[in-house]
Amino acid sequence: MIAIGSDHAGFEMKEEIITYLKEKGIDICDCGAYEYKSDDDYPDLAYIVAKKVSTSECDLGILICGTGIGVSIVANKVRGVHAGACSEPISAKLAREHNGANVIAFGSRIVGLEMAKAIVDSFLGADFEKMHRQRDEVRMKKIEKIENE
Ligand code: RB5
Repeated sequence: MIAIGSDHAGFEMKEEIITYLKEKGIDICDCGAYEYKSDDDYPDLAYIVAKKVSTSECDLGILICGTGIGVSIVANKVRGVHAGACSEPISAKLAREHNGANVIAFGSRIVGLEMAKAIVDSFLGADFEKMHRQRDEVRMKKIEKIENE
């Protein structure tokens, strides 16, 4: 199950990405926003998506705001969440394979819809089990240590 959320800036793109992923048969947990509200705040929905991932209710998360930055900052505050803000597919794949990212974030004001789809495909298609290396594990343990300080 993939959690997805956006604020108003990412709302339209979120709806398009949900349709795209559903057409591929991927199970989606839409965490909002459920309607366009120009005054909604990205920390609210980013937190919901991050919690779904940190509690293992969802396997991975997708966050969209204007830039991808705000939602990634919020998601990274939640223990066990590793969110990467990406604007192209190679980083999205490597975020998962090398950094163990479990949330991908991008900005509707930065990337177009086709690029957003490519980022999502690359992230979801990344082979974490195969490509994640011993040395990445050591680095992730160091991140965990910092998180626990
Ligand atoms: C909202 O206008 C915008 O600031 C937000 O979506 C995001 O870009 C923050 O990082």
